[in-house]
Amino acid sequence: MSEVKNYKEALTHSVFKTITQASANLQLESYVIGGFVRDHILQRGTAKDIDIVTIGSGIELAKEVSKLLPNNPKVQVFKTYGTAMLKTEGIEVEFVGARKESYREDSRNPIVENGTLQDDQDRRDFTINALALSLSKSDFGNLLDPFGGIDDLKSKIIRTPLDPNITYSDDPLRMMRAIRFASQLNFKIEKESLEAISKNKDRIKIITKERIVEELHKILLSDKPSVGFLLLEKTGLLPYILPELIALKGIDEVEGQRHKDNFYHTLEVVDNISENTDDLWLRWSALLHDIGKAPTKRFSKKVGWTFHGHEFVGAKMVFKLFKRLKMPLNDKMKFVQKMVLMSSRPIVIASEVTDSAVRRLVFDAGDYIEELMTLCEADITTKNPKRFKKYHNNFKIVRQKIVEVEERDHIRNFQPPVSGEEIMETFNIKPSREIGTIKEAIKEAILEGEIVNEYKAAYEYMIKKGEELGLKVAKHLRI
Ligand code: CTP
Repeated sequence: MSEVKNYKEALTHSVFKTITQASANLQLESYVIGGFVRDHILQRGTAKDIDIVTIGSGIELAKEVSKLLPNNPKVQVFKTYGTAMLKTEGIEVEFVGARKESYREDSRNPIVENGTLQDDQDRRDFTINALALSLSKSDFGNLLDPFGGIDDLKSKIIRTPLDPNITYSDDPLRMMRAIRFASQLNFKIEKESLEAISKNKDRIKIITKERIVEELHKILLSDKPSVGFLLLEKTGLLPYILPELIALKGIDEVEGQRHKDNFYHTLEVVDNISENTDDLWLRWSALLHDIGKAPTKRFSKKVGWTFHGHEFVGAKMVFKLFKRLKMPLNDKMKFVQKMVLMSSRPIVIASEVTDSAVRRLVFDAGDYIEELMTLCEADITTKNPKRFKKYHNNFKIVRQKIVEVEERDHIRNFQPPVSGEEIMETFNIKPSREIGTIKEAIKEAILEGEIVNEYKAAYEYMIKKGEELGLKVAKHLRI
């Protein structure tokens, strides 16, 4: 037997000493297990949650720990799962009794029996997540690694403790977790495991959308999200989750004219944007910015391949996709829709940067102009170095113009300089269509640069427009 490794330096948080004492009081063996141990060894920042497994009742242990802690934190008990949770010093501690589990075919809710530590480790998802450190007084910090998890951490491998077909079929969410960890940690999924995911892919159907989305978020937030999405595609899981992306795959050729593969292009855009932003929803925007291209793809002899209106169609698809995946239909979704809808605008104006086009861009993008520019810059995936440079330079000019126009015209969050009430008062009219017409004309004149975005200029323009519409300035206001 190889020498026992000890990691007590991982256990400096004061809660561990308390768990040790509580376990001794109840004569239980307890261990810290899973992500906490994995992330300590990988030196992945400070943990926000700790998983404790005890050979006995997790609920009893949690209650004893709470009793010993200075302010006796509330213990939240999840009876159906036999688990309990408490929060102390900014950390969530979850307690569970060691289990032997078997799963029913049609559900991820297991039938649970009490078990040993080894039973519990057997039923975990990956060798790197089955690492446990003892919290007993006699061997505090000793590592229990029955499946070579430390070696897998070193060689960057995702492997299941049991036959992967059993592990994945027991809980199909683990297929996504494997891919998520591969993407997050830049690990490889071991061959048999990868094959088992392809084989069991259909079982993903029993997993709730919320849990799938949680993994998708984590893939999207990894340094290079394409790693995860390529694995989802390779294993055949992607069509179950995001068929809109699969529809972008492939290159058509008609009369020698080809368009680019928009699936791989999309993944490049997502990787590009991930170098510049950690904003989850901006990354989602990059992922979905071209989804409207599949249903709008046309070929004509005159112009070749076109995707007319794909931004508009794509924005509508965002709503359906969010709804299907039970994602929030709130301002986050609206943001993604806006990004998709506007995703071609800066590119279009980059060829000829006029002040009025920039004013319109800023007007339409409002507070999200920065994000939109970030998306469009990420969208440059040409392999032609000359063009790459040219496009980036053009965007630099657009950005510069945005600053200039902003300083001069204050278009962002545009407020009409003349109100509807003032128009009514000036011409002594009741609410009517003319008011909207005048307001719109003032806005247009500002965006076109005919007048400056100031009260006096707008007031004079209002009088002019009103008179053109046959309105007369109220008597008492005439000069
Ligand atoms: N686990 C599992 N199967 C799952 C989910 C979790 O076996 N489907 C086990 C793993 O041992 C995992 C532990 O439960 O390490 C805790 O799960 P969780 O908190 O979801 O993940 P972490 O591994 O802690 O990773 P992260 O915090 O990055 O999600």
